Amino acid sequence: MAPAGSGSRAAVLVVGGAGYVGSHTVKGLLAAGYRAVVFDNLSTGHRQAVPRGARFLKGDLLQPASLGRALAAHRFQAVFHFAARALVGESVADPALYYRQNLTGTQNLLDAMRAHGVGKIVFSSTAAVYGEVRTAPLREDHPKAPCNPYGRTKWTIECMLRDYGAAYGLRSVSLRYFNAAGCDPDGELGEDHDPETHLIPNVLRAARDRRRGVRIFGDDYETPDGTCVRDYVHVTDLAQAHVRALEKLDSEIQVDAFNLGNGSGYSVREVVDMAREVTGRPIRAELVGRRPGDPPVLVASAERARAELGWQPVFGALGTILETAWGWHRTHPRGYGR
Ligand code: UFG
Repeated sequence: MAPAGSGSRAAVLVVGGAGYVGSHTVKGLLAAGYRAVVFDNLSTGHRQAVPRGARFLKGDLLQPASLGRALAAHRFQAVFHFAARALVGESVADPALYYRQNLTGTQNLLDAMRAHGVGKIVFSSTAAVYGEVRTAPLREDHPKAPCNPYGRTKWTIECMLRDYGAAYGLRSVSLRYFNAAGCDPDGELGEDHDPETHLIPNVLRAARDRRRGVRIFGDDYETPDGTCVRDYVHVTDLAQAHVRALEKLDSEIQVDAFNLGNGSGYSVREVVDMAREVTGRPIRAELVGRRPGDPPVLVASAERARAELGWQPVFGALGTILETAWGWHRTHPRGYGR
């Protein structure tokens, strides 16, 4: 669908667009006919992950001057906001870092948007806003009780967005990702974190390098096989959800939040077994103790995103998620070449 807004292609400022979900979304935006300007401090993102066709500006949300310059350089239709620290364990060890980077950084962004007359934002939120989860699949109206500083910063930002909407008319969509996974099916973009804490890249690293194994964090949860259950959602499907949210912000939505997941849960052991099948490699799995803070089951109901955003995930099968991730990890043993 052609972007709304003007005859010339509408521009989106993608803050954190050199990261994993951000870079895939930039690719989706360009394919949908938008212009994208990536603003990223490259603290965890990669310059090589910025798709050809997007403009790149190095800058930091904690340095409002660089942000002001970026916002002054174009007439942006909207901002996509991916820039955040996103590791639960790190947030417990260093909450000051999380409150500064995530909260202060976001407030700087919202205030700069106001100053430059940019009135729409799509925000990367997370299933971590729910905290203690009592049901599956989980709907958006489930109580929010984030149980670590990371989740608390994301939930506080959602509250900020609502308050800025009521007071200043800012239009926003918060997208609560469940477990972002998989890689660009064209093989151009991938997942490159340092350190890597996520299950799927760690399992695939063990497939690539037989000397390594993958650790399974606990098999004494109240789940069918005792290991934690998660809802894995393909990063390219997440990218599409952002484009759909932008289209809806142009017309119907003032302030809203949506879950993004496939509604199917897979246990850690199921992921390891499926990875053995997809890669055709033996994968050594070592059972170790629980990782603190892991909820047993997190599965989304994304009915509202389907009904109200018209979101239709196409890479939802776990096998497809693993195949696309394997396509990248097999050919990029050192990620983007760090
Ligand atoms: N796991 C392992 N071994 C590993 C890595 C993970 O067994 O080497 C397990 C975890 O214990 C968990 C599951 O695999 O049960 C998934 O773990 P991930 O680290 O891949 O993902 P999380 O569910 O912990 O994290 C996701 C998002 C976070 C978000 C969190 C909310 O990536 O950003 O959900 O709970 F904060």
